[in-house]
Parts: sequence; C-alpha cells; structure tokens
Amino acid sequence: MLIRTPKDWELRESATTPETIYQNRRTFLKTLGFAGAAFAARDLFAATAGFPTTNNPAFRDPALKPTPYEAITHYNNFYEFGTDKSEPAELANRGWKTDPWTVEVTGLVDTPLKLDVNELVAKVGGIEQRVYRFRCVEAWSMVIPWDGFQLSKLIALASPKADAKFVKFTTFLDRKSAPGQADGNLDYPYIEGLRLDEAMHELAFIATGIYGKPIPNQNGAPLRLVVPWKYGFKNIKSIVKLELVAKAPRNTWQQMAASEYGFYANVNPLVDHPRWSQASERVIGGGGGVFGSRQRTLMFNGYEKQVAALYKGLDLEKNY
Ligand code: MTE
Repeated sequence: MLIRTPKDWELRESATTPETIYQNRRTFLKTLGFAGAAFAARDLFAATAGFPTTNNPAFRDPALKPTPYEAITHYNNFYEFGTDKSEPAELANRGWKTDPWTVEVTGLVDTPLKLDVNELVAKVGGIEQRVYRFRCVEAWSMVIPWDGFQLSKLIALASPKADAKFVKFTTFLDRKSAPGQADGNLDYPYIEGLRLDEAMHELAFIATGIYGKPIPNQNGAPLRLVVPWKYGFKNIKSIVKLELVAKAPRNTWQQMAASEYGFYANVNPLVDHPRWSQASERVIGGGGGVFGSRQRTLMFNGYEKQVAALYKGLDLEKNY
C-alpha cells in the first residue's frame, strides 16, 4: 500500500529516534527554554484574548508534572501545516484565521446547531482547566493543562437521536491557508471518530486553551478534541463539524494505513505498533536530559480505572 506519510510515522521508533531527534534538535533546544525569550512576547499577547478559566481539581492528578508551555506549542503534529514537528508553530501563524470560527453539529440529532465559538462557550457554561496525560502513537508523551469544556455538553445541546451510535469529527479545509492540504500529504479534510458512549465519557474534552491562554493555532485553534486515554492522532484539531452517525466513520490514519492505525487507538502498552514497541515512551522535556527520559506506558494512558468499562468484552488486540 502506498502511504504518503513522512518519516516519523514510517520508520521504526527505536531506529528513528536518533534521526528524529537530530532533525528536531533545534526545536528541542527551543522547547526546553534555550530560546524561550523569543516566544515570551507573542505568548503574552495571545493571553489577552482567552476565556476565563477555573481549575477543576477532580481532573488534576498532583503527581503529574506539566510539560513546559514552549514544548507543548513548538513540538507539534499538524500535517495541514507541515510534517516536521517544528513547522506548525511557524506555518499555522502566517495569516491562517481561526477567529471568527463556527462549528456545526449535524446528522442524527433533533436539534442541529451552528454556533460561533464564543456563543458555544457561553452555552456549555464556560471553561475549566484539566491536566491530562498526552501519549502520541509515535511513543512520546507530554502532560498538558488544557482549558475547555466536556464534550458531552456540546453533544447534549444537539439532542442525539436513538440511532446515533458514533460521532464523526471534521477539520477545516482551506488549501490556500494550509500548505499541507495544498500538497496533499494526507487525504483532507482530517477526519476522526468516537463511539457515542466514548464521546459522552466525562474525560472526553474540547480544548480552547492551554495553560490558561487561548489555544495556539498550531495546537488546533480554536476547538480541538482531547481524549487522553487514546493515542494523540484521535485528538483532532480545528474542528468545524461534528456529525452524529449510525456507523463507525473511517478516520484519516485508518484510510492511510489501516493495518497500522485503527478506529479505537486506545493507548495499550501490550499491543505494539507493527513497526515499533508501545511498551514505553519518551517524555518530552522530562528527566533532565535534553531529549527527555523514558517511562513505561500505562494501560489506557493511566485512565484504565475510568474507561476500561467502555471496552468490556472487546478484544483490544483486534480492535486496536
Ligand atoms: N488534527 C489535524 N487536523 N491534523 C493533524 O495532523 N495530528 C494528530 C492530532 N490531531 C493532527 C490532528 C496527531 S498525530 C497528534 S500526535 C496530535 O494532534 C498532536 O497534537 P499537538 O501538536 O497539540 O501535540
């Protein structure tokens, strides 16, 4: 199968880590604060337009140490804006407009919605902050203080019909603003999906901010999905549409390489990616070393107690 994917995803993690690190060395140095001053002024400016946020202690494990802001916002996967980790921070901020922005909820619902982001935030009752683990299928991880709201609140506004079983999420399509879409490095628009009961789980979240600041374009402004027990690629960015559907939608990475990226994509250290192990992960910005330390990967990324019941009776090896 011809896969138009770039190096990070194609090569065995153990084999590619040094090359990836080499390619991203300058990004790493930046992310670890060596060039932090260059970002400070812009980040401060961005902070002026955010939604007020309050900590939700129920979703904040004090043992988790958040990754530095610079690393979260300068080591990104956002193929619409390039395939190199350092590109989105640059290319998603060259005139691509994420304000104003509307999102629609359609399909098998009683009350279809089309809302401006500000209107939406008011309707879901405002913004809270939760600190979640984040684990990419490429075997690296972060800890991110997300600001946003529970996805279930948005879905409830549209009143799903009884035959709605899945939610299909779609990212914007704008080939003029997104060089990756112009190049066709993936099939666009980027699509993701969740079972409706997964989407209604209290951990499923829509982020509008990071560290109390508006979510930067490169992280998926202005609305991006956060499902912390699943691999990062499920966390679709810059959402324009949620569609309630009866059948499981095929997500973008499944379309690109179905044998490697499944629908569920639950973090599972016992099921390896066909080309690399998922037993451990590189902690971005962690452990004192410039390239991060390694730690064991946890079942469902540490959220087993909360989500395991969703998958009772499901063969997790087959449903990867
Ligand atoms: N969403 C869109 N629209 N396009 C993408 O390329 N990349 C995914 C996910 N969401 C992606 C996306 C992948 S592979 C990961 S790991 C996370 O976003 C990365 O999120 P981050 O850059 O905020 O860490």
